[in-house]
Amino acid sequence: MSDFDVVVVGSLNLDLVVRTERHPLPGETLIGRTYLEFAGGKGLNQAVAAARSGARVALVGAVGGDHAGTFLRDIVRSEGIDDTWLGTIDDQPTGRAAITLDDAGENSIIVIQGANGAFSFDGMPTGRVVLAQLETSLDVVSQAFDLARGAGAITVLNPAPAVLLPGELLDLCDVIIPNEHEVELLGGRDAVASHVEHLVVTLGAAGAEHLTDGSLHRVEPFSVQPVDTTGAGDAFCGSFSCRLALGDTVADALRFAAAAGALATTNPGAVPSQPYAADTRALLDA
Ligand code: RIB
Repeated sequence: MSDFDVVVVGSLNLDLVVRTERHPLPGETLIGRTYLEFAGGKGLNQAVAAARSGARVALVGAVGGDHAGTFLRDIVRSEGIDDTWLGTIDDQPTGRAAITLDDAGENSIIVIQGANGAFSFDGMPTGRVVLAQLETSLDVVSQAFDLARGAGAITVLNPAPAVLLPGELLDLCDVIIPNEHEVELLGGRDAVASHVEHLVVTLGAAGAEHLTDGSLHRVEPFSVQPVDTTGAGDAFCGSFSCRLALGDTVADALRFAAAAGALATTNPGAVPSQPYAADTRALLDA
């Protein structure tokens, strides 16, 4: 019996979001439209997505000893996510993400890791699914997946932001979920697929592709009107992990995830846009 359905090992950021008509060119200054701050970070977004989809969730990570850290921890608790393994590193800033969002809802993001990059792995609870990304150190992800595999958990990696990963880490993944750019940075579909049972390549508005056992399955997209794509991939990964932990097949969990990912684009902000199970079900049934 696992302590949690989904254990997320990952980052928490304060997202500093500038809305502008278009992205600036190198060396160019633009006048933006608005500036807003949201809770974000791939780890927190995915933990919220899993919790709102119906999973019991714990978040393993760290915030800094600043106001942003207090703000983000309060959000973790208010979402019903267990923060026992969420540390505070007093002499580090909480992670920040500088996000530029254009009128088409497309973003570009620069992350300053702060406490996310400074924490070292110090154990975690058991979960049916252990889900990680790459905004913490590779050592943290490797140690977490090593432990998870030993405890019989399913490991899911969202390799974002992408870096070339050691084969030993890829071998610890049951499911890997990159987007089109990330899978190329990881060495291409065939190279990645040779290490894992399930490779899922997310394609934005075009849905996703699922490669398993040498065959390719399409995950059909849902048509929505996007206003902000930030956190849509996180909604996909978090809700997928929830449904997998609750007993869905990979194919069923991917369909649910595609609906959740589409819904996340229809609201601004990363954490605020993570959908609830009832809304995802409604889109699936529409
Ligand atoms: O995936 C979206 C997230 O990426 C943002 O919330 C930002 O914090 C960065 O981590």
